[in-house]
Amino acid sequence: MDKIVIRGGKPLSGRIPISGAKNAALTLMPCALLTDEPLTLRNLPRLADIDTFGHLLNNHGLSTTIEGTHPDEFGRVMTIRANRITSTVAPYDIVRKMRASILVLGPLLARAGEATVSLPGGCAIGNRPIDLHLKALEHLGAEIELAAGYVKATAKGGLRGGKYVFPLVSVGATENAVMAAVLARGESVLENVAREPEIVDLCNCLRAMGAKIEGIGTERLRITGVRDLHGATYAVMPDRIEAGSYACAAAITGGEVELVGASEADLGSTLDSLREAGVEVTPTADGLSVKRLNGLRGVTVSTAPYPGFPTDMQAQFMSMLAVAEGASLLTETIFENRFMHVPELSRMGADITVRGRSAVVRGVAGLTGAPVMATDLRASMSLVLAGLAASGETTVNRVYHLDRGYERLEEKLSAVGADIERIGDG
Ligand code: EPZ
Repeated sequence: MDKIVIRGGKPLSGRIPISGAKNAALTLMPCALLTDEPLTLRNLPRLADIDTFGHLLNNHGLSTTIEGTHPDEFGRVMTIRANRITSTVAPYDIVRKMRASILVLGPLLARAGEATVSLPGGCAIGNRPIDLHLKALEHLGAEIELAAGYVKATAKGGLRGGKYVFPLVSVGATENAVMAAVLARGESVLENVAREPEIVDLCNCLRAMGAKIEGIGTERLRITGVRDLHGATYAVMPDRIEAGSYACAAAITGGEVELVGASEADLGSTLDSLREAGVEVTPTADGLSVKRLNGLRGVTVSTAPYPGFPTDMQAQFMSMLAVAEGASLLTETIFENRFMHVPELSRMGADITVRGRSAVVRGVAGLTGAPVMATDLRASMSLVLAGLAASGETTVNRVYHLDRGYERLEEKLSAVGADIERIGDG
């Protein structure tokens, strides 16, 4: 397993290109199942999860063609063709590698009238049930059966429009429901839907394919089903979590970085909390410029569905606040086990106390490098950030977690002055 070695203490300076958003790409790719015409996605990040999703779509009989981009360029172009769906089964050995595989459920049901998808199971950060996905689809006329670790969904005679009020906000369940409703017979009203920018990206892509969706970006979507969708070419939005992560890198190292392609609107409350912590964020012609003014200040942050502070930024923020002046209170309201970075940060000298869903972070003068273990995607990034600021050498093990969500991380950080290298185990 590869590891990453960082020799910290160098302020970052320069430009970091922000890649296409992983969590947008993972809901745009299954849209190809909804039409027999080609869907071309631009600005796709080179990430393990994207490749895994491509293999999943191949398993359903779709072709995925990467159009020629120079290996050094960011932003792949992929054309996905679903003129024939040869299998409606998403097997365990693929789904277990990537939970987002569950996002083929809605589109397969909508297009083929059936789907058999392995239950994704939990992951490091929590149990992550899919009950809301299933309830929403039942309200669109699906019959759901659970057997032998699989969801077997059918919609004899096709899905029909329905009304569903989500009892709690779920990004994935919203995405499955929207991708099903666009081909359902009649009108659907989905209430208390997720409003993340990735949902807006999904709705905009579906509209480009001929879907009829009103209320995009609000908590209420009204969808009028159409008989067919056509192909389209669509560019994936920039990754707001990658951008937020590198903003924390600039802040924690006391540097100044331009995040090329980052969008102020998408980063919403993350920027508010960065500014509250003493970080200057300024829109530029190409993106956002981020620099630490003086010392960092402790803040209180509670994760929440968009437009609240994103749970995917919690671990990275904690690293930054570990070296702030004063204390911070971080509360994780979305997932039940998303503090696994805490013991590793503590080994680097951070002063963090966890009580249930909240963590008190008392700022320390500095961190010291150490060998640390990555446990999940965003926890891994928080350890990289700590390593960038720490004195001495930090070795982050199990970096395959990082490769799921950060395209060419060490290249992007080296280019702005970080002393970072990847060591393969041969
Ligand atoms: C998406 O996961 C993201 N993944 C996650 O990003 C992100 O943390 C999460 O949304 C919240 O923003 C992708 O987009 C691929 P949810 P998802 O359904 O859809 C509970 C990353 O680091 N819930 O919004 O799985 C669930 O347990 C990843 O990039 C149910 O109870 O998240 C959680 O507590 C990590 N029943 C809460 O809702 C359900 O049927 C929010 O989960 C579904 C969810």
